[in-house]
Amino acid sequence: MAQEDSIFIGASRKPDDSYQRPESLLLKYGNRHGLITGATGTGKTVTLQVLAQSFSDAGVPVFCADIKGDLSGIAIAGEPKDFLSKRAEAVKLDPYEFREAPTVFWDIFGEQGHPIRATISEMGPLLLARLMNLTEAQEGVLNIAFRIADEEGLLLLDLKDLQSMLANMATRSSELSGRYGNVSKASVGAIQRSLLVLEQQGGANFFGEPALRIADIMRTTRDGRGAVNVLAADKLMTNPRLYSTFLLWLMSELFEELPEVGDPEKPRLVFFFDEAHLLFNEAPKALLERVEQVVRLIRSKGVGVYFVTQNPLDVPETVLAQLGNRVQHALRAYTPRETNAVKVAADTFRPNPDFNTFQAITSLGTGEALVSTLEEKGVPSMVQRTLIRPPSSRIGPLAPEERQKVMAVSPVAGQYDQMMDRESAFEMLQKRAGQSQAETQQEGSGWTLPDFGGDTQQGGRSGSRPRASNRQSVAEAAIKSVVRSVGSTLGRELVRGILGVLRK
Ligand SMILES: Nc1ncnc2c1ncn2[C@@H]1O[C@H](COP(=O)(O)OP(=O)(O)OP(=O)(O)O)[C@@H](O)[C@H]1O
Ligand SMILES: [Mg+2]
Repeated sequence: MAQEDSIFIGASRKPDDSYQRPESLLLKYGNRHGLITGATGTGKTVTLQVLAQSFSDAGVPVFCADIKGDLSGIAIAGEPKDFLSKRAEAVKLDPYEFREAPTVFWDIFGEQGHPIRATISEMGPLLLARLMNLTEAQEGVLNIAFRIADEEGLLLLDLKDLQSMLANMATRSSELSGRYGNVSKASVGAIQRSLLVLEQQGGANFFGEPALRIADIMRTTRDGRGAVNVLAADKLMTNPRLYSTFLLWLMSELFEELPEVGDPEKPRLVFFFDEAHLLFNEAPKALLERVEQVVRLIRSKGVGVYFVTQNPLDVPETVLAQLGNRVQHALRAYTPRETNAVKVAADTFRPNPDFNTFQAITSLGTGEALVSTLEEKGVPSMVQRTLIRPPSSRIGPLAPEERQKVMAVSPVAGQYDQMMDRESAFEMLQKRAGQSQAETQQEGSGWTLPDFGGDTQQGGRSGSRPRASNRQSVAEAAIKSVVRSVGSTLGRELVRGILGVLRK
């Protein structure tokens, strides 16, 4: 059963049981993406678990989000149970072995896994604007903030860097407007407020260093299994925008960082995008087009993206058309709207003369699905009504102690746990402010700079002061700062990719 070139999904049979055939997914088409759909409780998570562990067994690292905590069981061997062995028998999975997948837990909040971080600079203005739900005008100002930071050699690592950058911009808004077009104080203020909200929602944990190294989610074990990276997403899901933007960022990171490999024997990484509708809901058209582009192009980097959602209609058609491997669990069709959704789902499959696809979708049992994968030459197989194999790992969540044990032996244990705070825009702008202050005081003016450090402890320095000469000092300091920082910090122009993510 364990074939080298494919992973086993389950078994399908003729209506009269006259034959049974194994359904599998060819590893060489693993990068042609996929879709797992179905109503609640129909078996999506277990299917994801089965696919993730099977990819891992084939040496392919996997990244997936754990929305309800029940995917964490993948980190521990399953226990023999009647319903499991019966199912193993029914799909002729022999031997049926219990085994854990080599799991690495991640958590933006650093509680249920290793902290996972990105810098502001890496994420880029496009995704940040989406994350903060900025208007076009505000997004324009954010773009300028990034540009100035690049030009002036100010590192944007965490939220307070961006905050102080914006505070600084507010004090020089008329100078900047002259150079870059309208930088209104109102827009800057609005972005600052959105940043505060983002901070409260967990952004302060997420933005900073050490940032995730892509290589760390692409590890394999000594016995050749791919790491299964599980992102704790239960808490993250209370902020769907942070959740979906984060996954989108990670996907574009992979895209920007990995070299072209064409069509490899097996994927280099498989990325499961659970609750995928969140990615597409309310996303502006321009963003959707770029997402579609990344999904299309990431294939040749050897990355397979598998969307998981209730209904195929949740995914825009242009993306749907790129998803070669399909697992459709049961859908209900009580209302006309549901009926229509099932029709659409049914129409995406290559029909099987043995059964009516529409009817099959509404009558599938739990852990049963319509399966179609890419066959030789990349043609979708005729749809089969398939009983999905039982997983080798546990169905259901880990206990906290079990999770701790897994985390303690993880290959990245200790690497990300402590947040670092090196000198970046916040500190540099503070220094700059201090320096200008000293200079102006030397001139005997007694004037001080307004507070643009964004740090409440420094609040005492601000007040009403003549603006013109302040602006001058800031500009001077800025020039000095550029001279100082070139070579030592950024020292080169930053290049951004399709989704505005930093290229390295
Ligand atoms: N392949 C399978 N083998 C054995 N049991 C299964 C399989 N698939 C599903 N089940 C059983 O069905 C239950 C529900 O499946 P699962 O949690 O995957 O549903 P779901 O579609 O993810 O639901 P939700 O939308 O609520 O998250 C499982 O707890 C398990 O008992
Ligand atoms: Mg589920």
